[in-house]
This record gives sequence, C-alpha cells and structure tokens, in this order.
Amino acid sequence: MDTLPPSANQEAIEAWNTVLFDKFVRFRNTLTAGLASHGNEALARHPPATGARVLDVGCGFGDTSVVIGKLVGPSGRVVGVDAAANFIDCARADAAAMDAPNVSFEVRDVEEEPLGGPYDVAFARFGTMFFSNPVAALRNVRRSMAPGGRLCIVVWRKREDSPALYRAQQIVEALVPKVEKGDAVTCGPGPFSMSGADMVSDQLLAAGWTHPCFERNQLLISIGSDIEDAINFALALGPAGEHLRLAGELGEAKKPEVIAAMRAAFAPFVKSDGVWMQSSSWTITATAS
Ligand SMILES: C[S@@+](CC[C@H](N)C(=O)[O-])C[C@H]1O[C@@H](n2cnc3c(N)ncnc32)[C@H](O)[C@@H]1O
Repeated sequence: MDTLPPSANQEAIEAWNTVLFDKFVRFRNTLTAGLASHGNEALARHPPATGARVLDVGCGFGDTSVVIGKLVGPSGRVVGVDAAANFIDCARADAAAMDAPNVSFEVRDVEEEPLGGPYDVAFARFGTMFFSNPVAALRNVRRSMAPGGRLCIVVWRKREDSPALYRAQQIVEALVPKVEKGDAVTCGPGPFSMSGADMVSDQLLAAGWTHPCFERNQLLISIGSDIEDAINFALALGPAGEHLRLAGELGEAKKPEVIAAMRAAFAPFVKSDGVWMQSSSWTITATAS
C-alpha cells in the first residue's frame, strides 16, 4: 500500500528531531547564549508574575522554562512544550538535575495538539517561526490561555539587521547554487518567517489575540569562541547551514571557497572573547481575547 507523504508540519518536526537536533547539541553553548540575550531582554521587560502559570512554546532544551520557573516561584508553574521528543528528553534530564520542581515538559505539536492550561502567559524564545500554519498554531496557543492571558514571543526581525545570521547566508547563496531539496527534511518556514510586523500582527488578530505590540531589540551576539568556531557554526546552522546541507556534494565541493569568504567576512568582528556580530529581534506581546 502507498504511504502518504508527510505533511509540511510533520516534515519540519522530523527535521527538528533529527538533523537539527544533532546540530543544536553540537553548538548548544553558542546557540543558547545568543538566543538567551534576546530572550532575557523580553523577560526583563515583561516578567511573568509570581504564581503565574506559563506555557513555553517550542522550548527546545528547556533552559528558558527553568529560568521562568525561578521567576514565577514555587506557587507558579511552567510547562515547556516542543514537537521534537529528543529536545524534550534533554529538557527533562536538565531540569531534574537543576532542582526545578515547578517545571515540566511535554512533547506537543503546537500547531495541532491540545496544550493543557489554562495559562496566564505563553512565552516563546524563537519557538514560533517554524509552523507550516502559524495562524492555526497561534490560535491553538490562545485556546490554552486564561481570559486576559498574555503572549510574549521573541522572533528574528528582518535578516538585513542580523548579520550574525545573514552574512553567512549571503556568502553561501552567492557561491553555492540552490538545489531542489528532494527527500531531505527541512525546518519549515525558517528563522525570518515572522519578521514582518504587519503580517504577524494580522496573523495574531486572525488567531484571536488582541493589541499586538512590537518592541525592537538590537544586540551583539557571539557566533563562536574564535574564527574557526564561528565558521563551523555558520557552515552548520541557520539558512547558510541548511543551504549547504541541501546542496549535498555540490556544497561540499564549494566549501573551501565558502570558508575563505566567511573568514574574510568575520575577521573584523573577532574579539578576545569571541566573534561578536549584530542581531535583531522583535519582542511581540498580545492579549488573549
Ligand atoms: C530555534 S529552536 C528554539 C528552541 C528554544 N526556544 C530556544 O530558544 O533555545 C525552535 C524550536 O521549535 C520547535 N518546534 C518546531 N515546530 C514545532 C511545532 N509544530 N510544535 C512545537 N515545537 C516546534 C523545534 O523542535 C525547536 O526546538
């Protein structure tokens, strides 16, 4: 009997649970430090109240869930959800080792599965840009909220303001022809898919959220401890890494040129404690109607 091809959403989940999970583990420290700079900014401006019930959407390794667990204190609770079981396994193991009794984790496809609740806050640090149907996912999150509950999500702004990610993408796209992805699994719409404030505010309103507000964050983040580390990071992750992975042998053949171009591009940003480049995100807040 023929099997149906997986939906776009199922394919993205497969990618997050396999090839992207492996890359995130390899570069975990650099990645989570960079993402945390943006997430911490959002949490500092919009701290969840003591005792709040919080959903952490697309929680990955769950480090934000543990941070939020401390902020809400023992009378609050945090549920981190992620569609990739491998991330949830890591999150559970880490939280158990860190004494975080008010934090728990569940494998959930935020686009399609019930999320429990009711919650007072739904937070996401770069966990909402990969849904094949963002309105369905945002509506599903809204349905899990208590009346008046607050959304606070962090997403990348336009790529041109994030050379920490985009410079490598430009280099790879200039040197390596784009290849049809074939059977390879991919991450879904991608890191910049929620960069347009007009479009995302329309999506939020369509999903039943009110009063969407956008705050702009501009931060230097480190993409590696030194230039070799930064090049390896850029070769593996983000749109550049995905372009190279999908290009297969063609990408491998072009790697020396790509590496030389990255070395020249990153050199001006090398400091004694890492390779620091600009990155820009939105902190988006809204209220559940
Ligand atoms: C860029 S990572 C961010 C992880 C984490 N929030 C952080 O800041 O480190 C995106 C996360 O979204 C998750 N994700 C993608 N699609 C999802 C879906 N449909 N439902 C739940 N999680 C999803 C991925 O598995 C991944 O862990």
